[in-house]
Amino acid sequence: MTQDHYFSAQPSGEFVAKPLTVTLAGRTVDLVTAGGVFSPGGLDTGTQVLLSHVPPPAPSGDLLDLGCGWGPIALSLALESPHATVWAVDVNERALELTRRNAAALGLDNVRAVTPDAVPDDVRFMTVWSNPPIRIGKNELHGLLEAWLPRLRDGGDAWLVVARNLGSDSLQRWLDARYSGVLAVSRAATHKGFRVLRVRNRSGLTGAITTIPAPSN
Ligand SMILES: C[S@@+](CC[C@H](N)C(=O)[O-])C[C@H]1O[C@@H](n2cnc3c(N)ncnc32)[C@H](O)[C@@H]1O
Repeated sequence: MTQDHYFSAQPSGEFVAKPLTVTLAGRTVDLVTAGGVFSPGGLDTGTQVLLSHVPPPAPSGDLLDLGCGWGPIALSLALESPHATVWAVDVNERALELTRRNAAALGLDNVRAVTPDAVPDDVRFMTVWSNPPIRIGKNELHGLLEAWLPRLRDGGDAWLVVARNLGSDSLQRWLDARYSGVLAVSRAATHKGFRVLRVRNRSGLTGAITTIPAPSN
């Protein structure tokens, strides 16, 4: 399978929307998907593991799905927290268009599906749920997490699902070392070959981004 959807703003191949029925937040919903995005045939196993192991998201404020694809995680956040604003970010424009269409199909007006640079700098997140793009490479992934995790609010949590065979444990060690004393990193669940990592802002990180230690590698 081509991996170009991970890296391209405009994936190759015609944009043909296809119907998809899935269960999100306990509801069976009719959505659309398309080739050129991640897991176009349905819910990815890692995404399923994440969604079945996270506690309810914050009921209000700003929530984030980092790397939204066709939107299963962002839509779940929005269904569970209709009074929150859900930021669904991706570099793949087709993924963003699918997420927008799927949010509209569900009558969800609290989803903002946008490119990463379109999220205002002052937005801070109470809950982050993500199946992050591991295959972009270790350094790129670390840079991505360094860009978004410091935007967790005090007491906010990020929940990340990562396959064990794609480096979940080394990512956990890196997060621990990188954010020691600032973010508390723990393994919340292990299921079907995936880890769900919990990253909690426990020390007033918000607004103090420049004081975070420099990268360790
Ligand atoms: C593992 S997929 C998860 C997709 C979707 N959340 C799901 O669960 O099906 C990771 C997503 O991250 C996106 N991505 C890659 N690089 C990114 C970046 N720098 N910023 C935001 N998203 C990115 C990819 O396009 C892809 O849609």
